[in-house]
Amino acid sequence: MHPRVLRAMSAPLLGHLDPAFVQMMEEVKDLLRVVFATTSPLTIPISGTGSAGMEACLVNLLEPGDELVVGVNGVFGTRMAEVAERAGAVVRRVEAPWGKVVRAEQVEAALKNATKPKLVAIVHAETSTGAWQPLAEIAKLAHDHGALMLADCVTSLGGVPVLIDEWGIDAAYSGTQKCLSCPPGLSPITFGPRAVDVVKARKTKVQSWYLDLSLLAQYWGEERVYHHTAPISMNYALREALRLVVEEGLEARYARHAKNHRALAAGLAPIGLALAAEDGHRLPMLNAVTVPDGVDEAKVRGRLLKDHGIEIGGGLGPMKGKVWRIGLMGESSRRSHVLSVLAALEDALRAEGRSVTPGAAVGAAQATYAA
Ligand SMILES: Cc1ncc(COP(=O)(O)O)c(C=O)c1O
Repeated sequence: MHPRVLRAMSAPLLGHLDPAFVQMMEEVKDLLRVVFATTSPLTIPISGTGSAGMEACLVNLLEPGDELVVGVNGVFGTRMAEVAERAGAVVRRVEAPWGKVVRAEQVEAALKNATKPKLVAIVHAETSTGAWQPLAEIAKLAHDHGALMLADCVTSLGGVPVLIDEWGIDAAYSGTQKCLSCPPGLSPITFGPRAVDVVKARKTKVQSWYLDLSLLAQYWGEERVYHHTAPISMNYALREALRLVVEEGLEARYARHAKNHRALAAGLAPIGLALAAEDGHRLPMLNAVTVPDGVDEAKVRGRLLKDHGIEIGGGLGPMKGKVWRIGLMGESSRRSHVLSVLAALEDALRAEGRSVTPGAAVGAAQATYAA
C-alpha cells in the first residue's frame, strides 16, 4: 500500500451519516466510475471482500430457477457457479482447462442449448491461473441471447483496462486488495441500467438482506437511509487508493503493469522457468510460473520468504504443487520487485541444486527495461 492509504486509515472517524462522510461517499462513487469506465449511478463499494461483491451480484440478479451460463477455468469461476447454485439458479458450466481462457464459441453453444439464459458470468482475471479472459465478444453474445453479462474484475481493476460501458458489461465486482493497493475489506461493484431493471423486476425478495442492492442503493443514493454501518476507515482508504490510481492515470498504470510483467517474463526464461497461462492471454499482475520437474515448489517458496522476505503464492486446486504465482499488483508492480524476485529465484533454485548462471534472470529483465 502507498503510505497515503495507510495514513488515510488512521484519520479520525466520522459517523456513517455525517455530512462530511456523505460527501466522501460521493467522491468514492465518482472515482469508482472512472476506474470502471462507466457512467452507471449504481457504482458503490459493498462492505466485505471480493466474495461479498460476487455474492451481491449473483443474488441480486438471479432468482430461484433462473438459468446462468458460467465460465469455469479456475477457482473463481468455480466459486461463482457454487454461489449461483446456492441462490437456486440452474447453472450451465462452460469449462476450459485451467490456465486457458473460455472461448466465445463455447459460451455461444451453451447459450444456444439453454432454455432462457438470464445471465452469463465470467472471470476477467483468473487469479488462480494467471489467465486473462477477453470479455467484449462474450458480452455481445450474452445480449444477443437476451442475457445479461456479469464480470469478476477482482484482480483486473486498476491493472488492465476494464471498460464496463464500452464492452457492454451489465454488472461487475472487484476487490480492494489487488491492483487498487488498498487493504482487503470492500468490494466495488457496478450495475448498469439493464441490471438495475432486472433487480427492479424481481418477483422474489433477495435472500440476503445484507447484500440487497435495493436497500443498499437507498443508503448510497440520495435518500441516505441507514442500512448498515459503513466501514468508515476502509472507505477513507479506498478513496485515497482511487485518488492515487487517478493521479497516476489509468493508461500509465496499465503500461507500468505491462512493462513489469514483460521484464519478469524475460527474466524467467534464462533460468529455465516459463509462464503457465496460455500465450497471448497472460495477466500482467498475476504471473503463474510452471514449477520445473524435480523442484520442490514449497521449499523454493519457503526460501524466498525466509531468506529474501518475498512472499509468492503456490498453486490452487489442480495447479497445487505445479505453479508459483507471482503478484505484481498496483503498488507492488515495480522494477525493484521484479529484479528482487528474480535474484531470489536464482538463489533459491541454485540452493535446490539447479544449474543457474548467477545474474542471468536479473540481466535479462534489466535488458527489457533498458530497451
Ligand atoms: C478473481 C477473484 N475473484 C474473487 C475473489 C474473492 O475475493 P476475496 O478473497 O477478497 O473475497 C478473488 C480473491 O482472490 C479473486 O482473485
